[in-house]
Amino acid sequence: MKLSYYGLFFLYLSNTTVYADQQSLQVICSAKPKTCQWLQDSFIEKYNIPTNIVRMSSGEALSIIEQNSANPDVIYDVWWGGTGDTHLKAIGNGFMHKFSPKNNNLLGWSTYLSDLSDGHTVGIYAGMLGIIANEKVLAAQNIDLPSCWSDLGDPKYRGQIIIANPATSGTAYTFLSTIFQIYDPFQRLQILAEIKENILKTTTSGYAALLPVANGEAALSVAFIHDALSLANKDSPLTIIIPCEGTGYEIGAASILKNTQHLKQAQQFIEYTLLAETQNKLTREISLQIFSNVDAVMSPVYKNQDNLNVINYNFRIYSSERMRKKILDTWDELSN
Ligand code: F6P
Repeated sequence: MKLSYYGLFFLYLSNTTVYADQQSLQVICSAKPKTCQWLQDSFIEKYNIPTNIVRMSSGEALSIIEQNSANPDVIYDVWWGGTGDTHLKAIGNGFMHKFSPKNNNLLGWSTYLSDLSDGHTVGIYAGMLGIIANEKVLAAQNIDLPSCWSDLGDPKYRGQIIIANPATSGTAYTFLSTIFQIYDPFQRLQILAEIKENILKTTTSGYAALLPVANGEAALSVAFIHDALSLANKDSPLTIIIPCEGTGYEIGAASILKNTQHLKQAQQFIEYTLLAETQNKLTREISLQIFSNVDAVMSPVYKNQDNLNVINYNFRIYSSERMRKKILDTWDELSN
């Protein structure tokens, strides 16, 4: 079955709640829609296991899992993709099954996430955050490019920023936690307040925020750079800026839900996505993150980035219940 982006979105709307009598493996997928669709098709083709994939942004998936943890009628088996902080939070609340992959050919950051979660999740891919600019839009208004996170609050960018909502999107949450880790409490409040003033609109997912920027509706977004480069083409040139203060990054995770009724198939699904063969197909055809198998080809987006200027991102603290609440409350309380 092939679905367009809009078809998949419809599938998501009509299918968000999944009940226990379903026979198929139920997977929440928090990567971009095309990746989720490809995983569903290729897994079914290879193993002939009925599988239903529902696309949700990282924070949406976390909310659905939290809301339904005590409801035995609502069953998902696997949560694949999305930023690791949301998986770690669900694990901290006891919603996930222990899972140690058989595949031991994984890069250090992938097993780091397993260790941090006491063997409840595994790192599938990694990616860096950046400021994404449509230079044509800026040039038409004679506005120069930002170089730093703090520049995004400059009034010259009023109405020029489209980003996702941090409550639903792992991309936007990674952005806010990056600002929290770079700036002291006073500075971050000031910078975030100024940035919020410049926002034209918000979207549910980080990837969706890039689409209107690529189309020229606004000039700037904050997103994972692999998503921006997978969208850029000669009609929609997107420029990647690694901010002067340094940038945050994600480890995208895969976990099994505690209430799974298809444990064997759930393990098989995740193992399938850890194979170099699967990851290479994703890199070549659809997804430009850095994948976790030692033998996976390097994403062309990250290949030549020797000086990545990433911050020393603290996944333990920034996935905690207390910090997530603090960050989301801070953002909510700033006026727009
Ligand atoms: O589109 C892929 C991706 O950027 C992943 O790298 C990331 O984990 C996920 O989307 C985040 O999506 P969202 O912002 O919708 O939670």
